[in-house]
Amino acid sequence: MTQDKSASERMEKIVSLCKRRGFIMQSSEIYGGLNGCWDYGPLGTELKRNLKDFWWRRMVRERDDIVGMDGSILMNRQVWVASGHEATFSDPMVDCRSCKSRLRADQLPEKDGKLHCPVCGSFDLTEARAFNLMFKTYVGATEDESAITYLRPETAQAIFVQFKNVLEVSRKKVPFGIAQIGKAFRNEINPRNFTFRSREFEQMELEYFCRPEDGVELLEYWLKERLKFYEDVGISSDLLHVHKIPPEERAHYSQGTYDIEFHFAFGVQELEGVAYRTDYDLSQHQKASGKSLEYFDEETGQHFVPHVVEPSAGVDRAVLALICAAFCEETITDPKGKAETRTVLKFHPRMAPIKCGIFPLLKNNERLVGQAREIVESLRPHMMVFYDESGAIGRRYRRQDEVGTPFGVTVDFDTIGENGPSNQGTVTIRERDSMKQVRVPIGELKSFLVDRIN
Ligand code: GAP
Repeated sequence: MTQDKSASERMEKIVSLCKRRGFIMQSSEIYGGLNGCWDYGPLGTELKRNLKDFWWRRMVRERDDIVGMDGSILMNRQVWVASGHEATFSDPMVDCRSCKSRLRADQLPEKDGKLHCPVCGSFDLTEARAFNLMFKTYVGATEDESAITYLRPETAQAIFVQFKNVLEVSRKKVPFGIAQIGKAFRNEINPRNFTFRSREFEQMELEYFCRPEDGVELLEYWLKERLKFYEDVGISSDLLHVHKIPPEERAHYSQGTYDIEFHFAFGVQELEGVAYRTDYDLSQHQKASGKSLEYFDEETGQHFVPHVVEPSAGVDRAVLALICAAFCEETITDPKGKAETRTVLKFHPRMAPIKCGIFPLLKNNERLVGQAREIVESLRPHMMVFYDESGAIGRRYRRQDEVGTPFGVTVDFDTIGENGPSNQGTVTIRERDSMKQVRVPIGELKSFLVDRIN
């Protein structure tokens, strides 16, 4: 099998698992869907929440120098004029004259040295023209020019326009940062690769404000921090790639940009950008609004517009990377010597949607069921758990393996003392990846699990 074929088969299996087990589903599916939009089901929502919570913990709660904010999606149109988005936030687009497809001009395949339509193969394409990616809308009841604004295409601008207010209320000194997680919208010409390029997605962005002379060093610092973050959520460094954007490809105001890329089955693609944006954004808003966005440095007595380093990550892309990195098919032999395929999502326990499955050995034994339910109630305030009493125990383990649950607790006859007193009050904990089991007293269960999922 060729590399391409096995990669696309792997991706198909991942997409199908995501739907079958309730991670990610097509938006508005019963009406035929809406291209570029996705819904997260029960497990996908937990996974996404775990990722965002850990980002927030790392970027805001564990640090003295970063505070959070939560800006509105709709903002005054002038924000997008000043930031440059209204004039230039576009992709080059061509039309295929044969099949009428609209295509990204910079992503066309080549045949015999000529670009052609990937849908019908025709070479009859229009000239490229700029297509603005922002979704336009009207605020209020009148649909005229004065009511126009856009759904935000990035969360960052809310941070820049609130810079002065947040600085004042938080009483921080440079270097300091403002972090935000929220929805962004881009009318992508060709949404594709599952959730990778969507029209509605979430970003986790930090704007880290500093003195001009510290920008270059802080860019390197943030690149390292962000790479460490991905390792800490279970994406090993050999699946990541750092692409240093050459000066001629960078935005004109940037003094350095890195893309953190992930080895997806459909190619090595960007997960996050880490960019040193100089004082461009604050200066643009200062000019356009006429309001000072300067910082007063008490140490030096100087007023200046701070520079900014921005690590900007896509939530949905990171969720997809977590699933792709975790997806694994193993051949194992059952106790009777029969080989079978085990599908496992090997999530880091801190990312796993369900932390622990709880299983009474038999569902028709009141004491086993009662004890298992008691354990569920005692763990619920601390983590996401799942109670399952149906089917053979091996099948219950497999169902949890497939959604990445790192631990399975079984209440058996030893637990309730029916095999003598020696193991009474203990349960087995099965670890997902090794499939090894250990016996632990019920009283130690919570700390055993909490230590491993945080
Ligand atoms: N404020 C800077 C900014 O928005 P960007 O590189 O355009 O920079 C940052 O976007 C991140 O947002 C990307 O690295 C990616 O993870 C995510 N992202 C951008 N467009 C996306 C899309 N259409 N679908 C999903 N995620 C997207």
